[in-house]
Amino acid sequence: MTSTKTATTPGSNRLQLTGKESPFGDWRDDLVRDGYAVIKNAIPRQRADGYADEMYSWLEGFGLGFDRHDLKTAHNNHLPIINEKGMCWWYSLAHEDFVWQMRAEPGVVGAFETVYDTKDLIVSFDALNFTFPQRTDLAPNSPWPHQDQNPDTQGFRCLQGLVNLLPNGPNDGGLIVCKGGHLLSEQFHAEMKHEARIKGFFHEWYGYTDAGMKWLADHGLHWEKIIADPGDLIVWDSRTPHYNLPSTSDKPRFCIYTCYMPVADVSQEDLKRKKEAFETFRTTSHWPNANFLGGRDATRDGNPCPYNRHEPVKKPQLDERGYKLTGIPYIQ
Ligand SMILES: [Fe+2]
Repeated sequence: MTSTKTATTPGSNRLQLTGKESPFGDWRDDLVRDGYAVIKNAIPRQRADGYADEMYSWLEGFGLGFDRHDLKTAHNNHLPIINEKGMCWWYSLAHEDFVWQMRAEPGVVGAFETVYDTKDLIVSFDALNFTFPQRTDLAPNSPWPHQDQNPDTQGFRCLQGLVNLLPNGPNDGGLIVCKGGHLLSEQFHAEMKHEARIKGFFHEWYGYTDAGMKWLADHGLHWEKIIADPGDLIVWDSRTPHYNLPSTSDKPRFCIYTCYMPVADVSQEDLKRKKEAFETFRTTSHWPNANFLGGRDATRDGNPCPYNRHEPVKKPQLDERGYKLTGIPYIQ
């Protein structure tokens, strides 16, 4: 008897995001066309609410007077250090157990398995975002349009993601993307090669200047603020220009950044560096190969924050899926 099933090597049907892929009839069509997609209910609502609760409890757990029921307490004096863009990279937050549980959510990691056509993935140890409305104790969050892929490299390489955990409407702050920018990326960088680059925090970052923003507009591209519900996963091609907006409403915005890439794309050196980051509870950028390690300690008023910690409150309790995402089992 002859099987009609054709065996393929994992990864061989990975999406390339050229804009020419055949229709799939799901969120992949949005991703191919627009360079981003919203995957509704990637995490069931009850579990998403649970992660938001964990984030609030983590803030309150510092004992500095923050109270989720009184947003006037969303002030530097009552909170760990969170920057004006809502990012918190410090205090080993990236390795709290609840963050790891979110990373192993089947609806989240499954989306990346679909795009990369493999289950052999590693995950980033990235920041979380706590954007509170009308904070007057921080510098304004001015736009920093950028892409998160070195423009000297070509094609689709990395799919970024964030899990949205609170209702996020048009005025609640959050991700804004340049729709379809991934498809013009190569042309943009060829034509703008002469331009001096904005200094980035590492080599996989490129900032758009005013001239770059004009180029995008002149080529018919528009920016779109993404609207999302708790439990929605937002994914975007790292070539798609993006940044985040401050909230102009009275509602906070919480999300967890999470990004996966195939083990096949990373070196043994990457995996060893990643192992060390995992074992010492370090934060990386969104690149899962740990090509950038964040500083361990937050700074408060020019000095090390007295509340710095180098271990999570609750260390990760990983199941087999979660442990594989650290990359450690793939070290030879
Ligand atoms: Fe980014």
